[in-house]
Amino acid sequence: MMQFTVLTLFPEMFAPLQESILKRAQEAGLVKILFVNFRDYATSKHKNVDDVPYGGGAGMLLKPEPIFAAIRDLPPPCGRRRVILMSPQGDVFRQEKVREWSEQEELVFICGHYEGFDERIRELADEEVSIGDYVLTGGELAAMVMIDAVVRFIPGVLGEDTSAEEDSHSSSLLEYPQYTRPSDFEGRQVPKILLSGHHAMIKRWRRKESLRRTFLRRPDLVKAVTFRVDDYPLLEELSLEHEAIAEWQDLWKHLCPQPKRRRRSSHNTEGKQCSESHLQEVGVLELDE
Ligand SMILES: C[S@@+](CC[C@H](N)C(=O)[O-])C[C@H]1O[C@@H](n2cnc3c(N)ncnc32)[C@H](O)[C@@H]1O
Repeated sequence: MMQFTVLTLFPEMFAPLQESILKRAQEAGLVKILFVNFRDYATSKHKNVDDVPYGGGAGMLLKPEPIFAAIRDLPPPCGRRRVILMSPQGDVFRQEKVREWSEQEELVFICGHYEGFDERIRELADEEVSIGDYVLTGGELAAMVMIDAVVRFIPGVLGEDTSAEEDSHSSSLLEYPQYTRPSDFEGRQVPKILLSGHHAMIKRWRRKESLRRTFLRRPDLVKAVTFRVDDYPLLEELSLEHEAIAEWQDLWKHLCPQPKRRRRSSHNTEGKQCSESHLQEVGVLELDE
C-alpha cells in the first residue's frame, strides 16, 4: 500500500481522484490518499494562513507556522517518505521521477496557493517539483497530476497484463501507434502487419514506429533514449524515409550500438530457405549483440 498525504487549503479540489482507476486502486487497498487542511493548524483568531510580503509587493504569502505545524504533526512514516513542495521553480516532473517515487512508501505533497509561500517553508521539503513552465493558481492541480502518474506505476493498479513501462516516456521513447477494431474504419485501414499475428514482425514494427515518432515529434528526447543494437537497422531505414531523421544521423550513430554483421547463412534453424530481405523484415537478421 502506498500512501499519499496532501497538505492543502482546498481538499475538495481533489474530488477527481475518487473516479475510475484511482478510485479502484484505493478500493483495492493499493493506495491511500489523505488530506491535511493546514488551516486547521492556524492559531490566530481568524485562522489566517497568509500574510503580506515583507518589503512590499502584490499578493499574499502562505505563513510558515501552519505548514510547519502540520508537517510536525504527521504520524511517523510507515516507511520511506518524501516531502514534495509544489512549485513552478522546481525540477520539471518527468517519467523518471514517477518511477523513482513509485518505490516510496509515502509521498507528502505541500500545495502552495495565492502569491506563493514564505521562503522558510522550502526547508521542509526533500524536493521542489513543477509540472511545467507555467504558473497555476495553486499546487492542487499539480499534486493531482503527480499522484495520478505515480499511482499508474504501482504494481496491480493497471491490471496484470497492462504495463506502464510500455507507455510513452517510460524508455524515453514515445509509444507506437495503436489500433483497435474495426480493422477498416470508413476506408482507413489498420496496418496489415498488426493483423498478421507474427509477433517478431509486430515487435519490430512497433519499435520502428516508436523511434520514428520520437525523432519526428520530440527530438529533444533522443539523447535520453537507451538504444539497442537492433535499433541500428531501423534507424538506417528511417533515415532513408525521413530527411529530418537523416539529419540526426551523426547523433544516432553515436548513441546507437552498431551491429557487427556476421556471414549470413542461407538456412534458418529449421533448415528452410530464408531470404535476407525476409530476415531483415522480421528483425531476425543475424547480429552480434
Ligand atoms: C501563483 S503560484 C505562486 C508563484 C510564485 N509567485 C512564483 O513565481 O514562483 C501559487 C502556488 O501554486 C503552485 N504552482 C503554481 N505553478 C505551479 C507549477 N507549474 N507546478 C507546481 N506547482 C505550481 C505552487 O505551490 C505555488 O506556490
